Amino acid sequence: MRWPRGVEGLCYGGDYNPEQWPEDVWKEDVALMRRAGVNLVTVGVFSWSRIEPEEGRHDFGWLDRVLDLLEANGVKANLATPTASPPPWFGLAHPDALNMTAEGVRLTHGSRDTYCVSAPPYQEASRRIAATLAERYRDHPALAMWHVHNEYGTACHCDHAAHAFRAWLREKYGTLDALGDAWTTSFWSQRYSAWEQITPPRATQYLPNPTHVLDFRRFVSDEMLAHFRRQRDVLRELTPDVPITTNFVFGGWVPVDHWKWAREVDLVAIDDYPAEPGLAAAEHTAFAADLARSWAGGAPWLLMEQAPGVIYTNGRMTAKEPGETARHSLSHIARGSRGVMFFQWRASRGGAELWHAGMVPHAGPDSRIFREIAELGEVLDRLGGTGVSGAVEADVAVLWDYDAWWALQSRGLPSAELDYLDAVRQAHRVAWLRGLTVDFAHPSHDLSRYRAVLVPSLYLVSDAAAANLRGFVERGGTVVVSFFSGVADEHARVRLGGHPAAFRDFLGIRVEEFLPLAEAVRLSDGRHATIWSEHVHLEGAEAVSAYPDGRPAITRNSFGAGSAWYVSTRLGDEGYARVLADAQVLTERRVLTAGSRRPSASGRPAPAVAPGVEIVRRDSGMLFAINHTSERHLVPIQGVDLLTGARLDGVDLPPGGFAVLREDR
Ligand code: GAL
Repeated sequence: MRWPRGVEGLCYGGDYNPEQWPEDVWKEDVALMRRAGVNLVTVGVFSWSRIEPEEGRHDFGWLDRVLDLLEANGVKANLATPTASPPPWFGLAHPDALNMTAEGVRLTHGSRDTYCVSAPPYQEASRRIAATLAERYRDHPALAMWHVHNEYGTACHCDHAAHAFRAWLREKYGTLDALGDAWTTSFWSQRYSAWEQITPPRATQYLPNPTHVLDFRRFVSDEMLAHFRRQRDVLRELTPDVPITTNFVFGGWVPVDHWKWAREVDLVAIDDYPAEPGLAAAEHTAFAADLARSWAGGAPWLLMEQAPGVIYTNGRMTAKEPGETARHSLSHIARGSRGVMFFQWRASRGGAELWHAGMVPHAGPDSRIFREIAELGEVLDRLGGTGVSGAVEADVAVLWDYDAWWALQSRGLPSAELDYLDAVRQAHRVAWLRGLTVDFAHPSHDLSRYRAVLVPSLYLVSDAAAANLRGFVERGGTVVVSFFSGVADEHARVRLGGHPAAFRDFLGIRVEEFLPLAEAVRLSDGRHATIWSEHVHLEGAEAVSAYPDGRPAITRNSFGAGSAWYVSTRLGDEGYARVLADAQVLTERRVLTAGSRRPSASGRPAPAVAPGVEIVRRDSGMLFAINHTSERHLVPIQGVDLLTGARLDGVDLPPGGFAVLREDR
C-alpha cells in the first residue's frame, strides 16, 4: 500500500471536473473545498478532448491553473489519465479502435468508454497521453497520486480483440487439442483446426460454449490489466514517488478479477453505488467495503467514489436520507477505507450526468447536501487526527471467486434462478445483520486464520482450491457449503461420480440428482426452502433437516478436527442464520444491545446487536458503532469517544447516530 503524497490524515474529496465551468466558478470551488475540509480531488478523468483538442496538439494552460489553484488552497490532486473517454477525433482517425458489440455493431463516439483495449492505435494513444501528463506534471507539488483510466469494464468483440484472445489462449493451452479438451469442442461440432478460427464469443444461433465464454471473460480481465500496466509502468518510470491506482467498479457485467488486479495497484480503490434503499443500502455498503479490504489483503484502501445525494436506480433517482451519506462514509472508514471520496464535486449543469448528485448541488452551498458534506469533513478531520489504525477484526470468511460467478452466469444451467451474487449476498447480509464482520477470501487463499468459512454456491472450483478447503476442515475449521458448490472443474466441466465431487469426502455426502423446485417447500424443522433441492445420500454425515419426502436437506459431518455443513437448498435468511448459529459461526458477541441479553424463547442466544446497528472493531482497540435504524440503541461498551474526547460508559446511539471509540479492553 502506498499513500497519496502530501495528504495528511484521511482523504476527503471527489471527482473534480472544472473543465465544465468558467474559471470564476473555480475560485468559489476552492473556497468551498476549504470550508468542507476537502484535501484531495480527482482531476482530469474525462478531459482528453480538452487536453489534446487535436491529435498531437496539447492545451495544458487550464489544467496548469487548476492544479496551481488547488495547491494554493491546500488541496492535492489525484491526477487521472483520461483514457476512459478518447476524443471524437480519435475515433474518426482510428475507427478500428472503437469497440464492437457481440452482435458485430461497431460503436461510435458520443458517450464514453468507446475503445478497444486490444487495438494498437488506442494502446499507443493511451501510453502517449499518460507519458505526456507525467512529463508535464512530474514536479507539480499538487500531484499526490495517479488515477489511471476510470472503472475498467469495457469488453470488445472486434478483430483486434480476436487476435489478442487467440494469443492469450495459445499461452494458456499450448495446443488446440488441449483447448478442445477444456472447452469440450467435440460436442456440437466445435473442433478448431487452426487458431485463426477462434473468435470472441460473438452473437450465435443458440447456447454458446460456456467455457469459451468463461475464458473470454478471463481474457478481457487480463487484457484490460495489460492496458492498465502499460500506463502504470510509464507513470512509474517518470514519477517513481507517486502512487498509482485505478477505481474498481463492481457488478455482474464487469469482466475484472479484482483479486488479480489488487496486486497491481499501489492502493486499492473502489466506487460504490448501492442501489437499494434504507437498511439494504447500509448492508450493501458494508459488503463493498469488506470486498475492498479483502482485495487489499487487509491493508488500508480508499473509497474513490460514492454519491453525495441521489442515486439512479431502476429508472428512478432515489434521494439519500438525511445523515445517510455520513453513515455510509463511516461504515467505509470502519471497514478499512482511509478516506471518503465522491462523484462529483459540483453537480453538472449539462451533459450526460447532469442529474447525478454533487457535493455542491445545483441548489448551491446553501443546501442540506453541502451542509452534510461540510459536517462530514469535520468528522473525518477529527478522526484523521486520532490516527485511524489497526486491522479490522474478522474471524469468519466468505469465499468469493470470479470464475465461479462468471461460470454461474452461463446460460443452459439447470435453473435460471441459480444466482451466485444472491448466495454470497445472503451470507454477508445474515452475518451483517447479526453484528458479525466477515472477510472475503479467494478459494485458494490461506484460510488458517479463520475459525469458519462460508462457501455460497461455489459452482466451479479447481483441484487446488478444493484441497485447500479440505485441509482447512481437516485442521479444525468449520465450513458451511451451500447448494450447487464444487460441481464443476476450472474449465466449467462437471466433476463426475456424484456431486459435489470436489467436496464429497469432507462433507460426507453424495448428491445423486439436482431437483430444481417449482414451488417452495417446508423442511422437517419448519424452514422454508425455495428454488433448488438435491437428492442427497448420507455417506458419513448426519441429517440436520429433511425434505418433505424424508431425504436429507441440511447435513453436518465431522472431518478430521473440523466440521462441514451442507445446505442443499436455498433457505430464507432466517433459516440460513439458524444454520450459522448451529454451526457456531454466529456466536455470542461481546457487544450487547441493552435489553437483549436474555436468550430468546427458542433458547438460542438473542441477537446480540440489534439488526442495523453496525459494530466494527479494530485490533488496535478502535470501535465504530453506527445506528442505521430509526430507533435509539444503547450499546454497553466503555471507552473514550474519539470524536468528543469524552469518557463513555455505554454508547447511546440516537436514530441514525454513530460513535467512534477507543474501547477499554
Ligand atoms: C461512476 C463513474 C463516474 C460517474 C458515476 C456516477 O461509475 O466512475 O464517472 O459516472 O459513476 O454515475
